[in-house]
Amino acid sequence: MIRQITCRKATLKDILIYYNWANEATVRKNAIHPEEIRLDDHKVWYIKKMKSSYSDLYFFKMKDKPLGQVRFDKNIHNDRYEIDYSIDFQYRGHGLGQIIIDMAMNKLIAKTKKQIQFEALVKKDNLASSKIFMNLGFSLINELMINDVTFEKYFK
Ligand SMILES: CC(C)(COP(=O)(O)OP(=O)(O)OC[C@H]1O[C@@H](n2cnc3c(N)ncnc32)[C@H](O)[C@@H]1OP(=O)(O)O)[C@@H](O)C(=O)NCCC(=O)NCCS
Repeated sequence: MIRQITCRKATLKDILIYYNWANEATVRKNAIHPEEIRLDDHKVWYIKKMKSSYSDLYFFKMKDKPLGQVRFDKNIHNDRYEIDYSIDFQYRGHGLGQIIIDMAMNKLIAKTKKQIQFEALVKKDNLASSKIFMNLGFSLINELMINDVTFEKYFK
């Protein structure tokens, strides 16, 4: 299964796949802002991300089918790379989230040719995601409340 996974940089052509992923119910439930995203807003956001030198969007396929995405946003205040990721609904439950994050981190390290510090914000009840970051050697640093919801912050 792992050998069938490929990774490339996301392009403008992926804009609608990203839109559908972003609005999938579990993705919204686990987000800081759980409201549904309007297509117009998504387009503005996506084009900005494509142009930004602080964002790296990696698009994964399983054979020729969209599998998921990992995005890194560089925090200019502390130089850490914040991770956002998701697995397409139909491929969940097979440990693939951990694999795509690992692949994407290696791609980013190879690109920047530097040591990188990563961070991730995980909703406390998102047990699969907490497990994934622990499995990848991240440490739970602290908990924080955002809009009355508890999130965990992981560093590596
Ligand atoms: C988070 C997400 C990528 C995980 O998908 P996945 O890789 O298919 O996850 P899996 O079901 O394989 O579970 C990953 C790990 O969590 C564990 N896990 C899953 N559900 C769990 C639960 N309810 N309680 C405890 N552990 C759980 C699994 O056993 C597995 O651990 P292991 O590899 O050590 O056995 C997927 O649910 C998703 O895309 N969610 C929406 C977006 C999202 O939440 N992104 C993360 C934002 S921080």
